[in-house]
Amino acid sequence: MAKLTLDQMASFTKSRGFVYPSSEIYGGFAAVYDYGHYGILLKKNIESMWFKSMVQDRDDVYALDSGIFMHPLTWKASGHLDSFNDVLIEDKVTHKRFRADHLIEEYFEKKGEKVDMDKKTPEEMSKIIADNKIVSPDGNELTTPRNFNQMIKTNLGVTDGTITDENAVYPRAETCQGIYLDYKAVMDSIRPKLPFGIAQIGKAFRNEIVARQFIFRTREFEQMEMQYFLHPSEMDSKYEEWKQYRHKWFVEFGIPQDKLRFKEHTKLAHYASKAFDLEYNFDILGGFKEVEGIHARGDWDLSQHQKFSGVDLTYFDQVRNEKYLPNIMETSVGLNRLFLMFLDNAYTEEEVNGEKRIVLKLDKRLSPVKISILPLSKKEPLSTIAHEIKNTLRKTYFVEYDETQSIGKRYRRADEIGTPYCITVDFETVNDKKVTIRDRDSMKQDRVDIDKLEEYFKGKFN
Ligand code: GAP
Repeated sequence: MAKLTLDQMASFTKSRGFVYPSSEIYGGFAAVYDYGHYGILLKKNIESMWFKSMVQDRDDVYALDSGIFMHPLTWKASGHLDSFNDVLIEDKVTHKRFRADHLIEEYFEKKGEKVDMDKKTPEEMSKIIADNKIVSPDGNELTTPRNFNQMIKTNLGVTDGTITDENAVYPRAETCQGIYLDYKAVMDSIRPKLPFGIAQIGKAFRNEIVARQFIFRTREFEQMEMQYFLHPSEMDSKYEEWKQYRHKWFVEFGIPQDKLRFKEHTKLAHYASKAFDLEYNFDILGGFKEVEGIHARGDWDLSQHQKFSGVDLTYFDQVRNEKYLPNIMETSVGLNRLFLMFLDNAYTEEEVNGEKRIVLKLDKRLSPVKISILPLSKKEPLSTIAHEIKNTLRKTYFVEYDETQSIGKRYRRADEIGTPYCITVDFETVNDKKVTIRDRDSMKQDRVDIDKLEEYFKGKFN
C-alpha cells in the first residue's frame, strides 16, 4: 500500500479542496494555510468530536471562548515574554535561518544516531555544533545560536503605528491564558466546585523560526485546550486519568494503538512540572511526532496572574475546609495537527479490479460529507427523485449531489474525500422505489426502499 510524502499530501489536499497554500496569487505566504470546503467540514467534525468528549459528555468541564488579545501583562506574568524562545541559528553565507535543535537532530539522524535536544540552551547547542563541526545544509559556517522569542508583537488603539513598550500587545501564543484570566469570572458566575475544567478552542499565533512541514507547524494555528483546576494532592491521579482519557479518544476515532505513544519530557517548559507528549507515528513525516501535550502546571499560572493583577485567585474548599490556589493540569492539542494525523492515517491506495483506488478511510463521524447522491441520469424522473432524497437527508446529514461524469468517476470522487455512503438512483428506482447504497470501505451494495433511508442511516454517524 503506497503512502504519500508530505509534499504529495499537500498537493492531494489542495487538489481535493481540503487545504490551500495562503496567498498563492502573490507567490505564497510561508507557514500559513487556508482551508477549503472539505477541509472546513473535516476540521469542524474533529472540533465537535473533541468538544463532545471534553465538555458535553462530562459533568466537570465548562466551555469558554476568550479573546485572542489580552492585557499585555498576561504575557509578562505567564513568562512568555521572557522564556518562550526557540534557538535560532543562521547560515553565515546564505543567511538562511534554522532552528538550531532541528539542525543538530538532522545531523545526528543522518549518522543514524539519536540526540535529545529537549530544552537545550543556546550555549549547550553551541558546544554540540562546535564539537561536531556541524555546518549549514549548504555546507557553510553557522552563527552562534541565540534565543528567539516566539511571541508576535503588534499594537492596538489610535497610535501612529509605532510599537512601543506602552502600546505593545500580543496575539495569544496559547489559548489557555484566556482560561486563567477568566477563571475567576467562571467561579463567580457558574460556581463550580473543584476539581473542574474549562475548555476552549481557538487560534494561536507563534513566530516559528522555520515552518516547512505543511500544516504540522504553522505560524497561525488552532488549539483545543482544557485546563483542569484541582487540589495539589489530586494532581497525580487526575493527570493519569486524563492521559488515559485522551489516549482512548484517539483510538476511538480509528488511530491504531501501535501508532500512538507517550513521550515524557526530560526538560520542562518554564511552567510545567510534568509533561508527556502524545505522539503519532506519521507516515508522511517518517516517524513519531507530538500531536498533544499533557502538562502538570502546578500553581504557576494562577500564582503569577494573582501576583501581577493583585487579585485574589484563591479558592475556599468547603469539603477540605481549606483555602488554596488551585493547581492546574492541562490537555493541549493542535486542531491542525489532528487534521493532518487523521488524513495521514486515513489515506489509502488500493487496487480494485486492476485499477488504483484512493480512499480516505476516515471514521464516519469525521467524514466531511456523509452521503453522496448520484442519479444515473440528469433527466427526469431520476433527477426529481434524487433531489427529493437529498432534501430529506440533508435535514440530518451533510450530503452532496453529484450528477456529472460516469458513475465510476463519481464513486472515486466520493472515496477520495472519504464519503462513507453513495446512493445511486437508477432507472429501476422508478419502478421499485428502491436505491442502491454503496459502502465506501467494503464497496458492498445494499438495495434499500427510499422511504426506509432515514432508518437505514440512523446511528451510522454517532
Ligand atoms: N498550552 C500549552 C501549549 O501550548 P504546546 O506543546 O506549545 O503547549 C500544544 O502546544 C499543542 O499545540 C502541540 O502539541 C501541537 O499540537 C499544537 N501546536 C503548537 N505549536 C504549533 C504550531 N506552530 N503549528 C501547529 N500546531 C502547533
